[in-house]
Amino acid sequence: MEEIKVFCPATIANVSCGFDVLGLALDAVGDEMIVRKVPEKGIHITKIKGQDLPLAADKNVAGVAGLALLEQSGYSGGFEIEIDKRIKPGSGIGSSAASSAGAVWAMNELLGRPFSNLELVKFAMQGEKLASDVAHADNVAPAIYGGFTLVRSYDPLDIVTIPTPPELYATVIHPQIEIKTSDSRKILKSTIPMEKGIRQWGNLGGLIAGLFQNDYDLIGRSLEDHIVEPIRSILIPGFDNIKANALKADALGGGISGSGPSIFALSKGKETAEKVAQSMRETYQKVGIPFDIHVSKINAQGVKPIV
Ligand code: HSE
Repeated sequence: MEEIKVFCPATIANVSCGFDVLGLALDAVGDEMIVRKVPEKGIHITKIKGQDLPLAADKNVAGVAGLALLEQSGYSGGFEIEIDKRIKPGSGIGSSAASSAGAVWAMNELLGRPFSNLELVKFAMQGEKLASDVAHADNVAPAIYGGFTLVRSYDPLDIVTIPTPPELYATVIHPQIEIKTSDSRKILKSTIPMEKGIRQWGNLGGLIAGLFQNDYDLIGRSLEDHIVEPIRSILIPGFDNIKANALKADALGGGISGSGPSIFALSKGKETAEKVAQSMRETYQKVGIPFDIHVSKINAQGVKPIV
């Protein structure tokens, strides 16, 4: 195989109580990318559609992640990449992760899969480092593995895949304002009081147990974040109303997607997820900022070929 076209999923990082460790992959929104083998060494980004982003490999997240893989691969040629960027940078649904993960996943396929998913995550994290100054893995891990993933440890990197209950759906509203992950990390406190830590790890354990046991109520009860959400939500106009009305529309729970401004809710069943989307639409029309809404199944596969 000399060329592959892939779907690179958007992702919801943190999922309320799992700051920097939990994430899930979406199915309804993502970038598309064509990667092909070329004899010239290095990564050559030839086309980016949809967004104004750098073509220079060392300044582009897909390029940086790809270069990290290339360095370890022993392959004497290079790769050409064309990106159809459908996820806006600064949206909170893993725009940089989709490009980083898609590039390394596709390159690994073209090389005959020499690298494990864990190694691909490590390469893709270099793209995240370029985008946000921190090599966090909670977007790139679900983008590569699919479903829900937990970063149990960063050093050494240990990724645990978590099963998805069959009827779980996500609704995501993306207000058209940009919040840079690097900026929204700077406003966070570097220490947390013990009582908040206790609530957070109780919720994180509860959420993981709920996902394993298909216990939708437990999932809902566990979607709480008393550490990051109170600080970051101030940057997102209409956040409190969106969340309160999503719960009234029977969402299990929700919160900020990644570093925002996107807001997510999880629901049992597509019908409820659509009802939540309608409540978000009605709520946000009053805010006066343009927005997109996505209703999505959880993407079990992660990056996948488009045939
Ligand atoms: N865990 C990261 C953060 C995700 O919240 O800063 C960024 O998408």
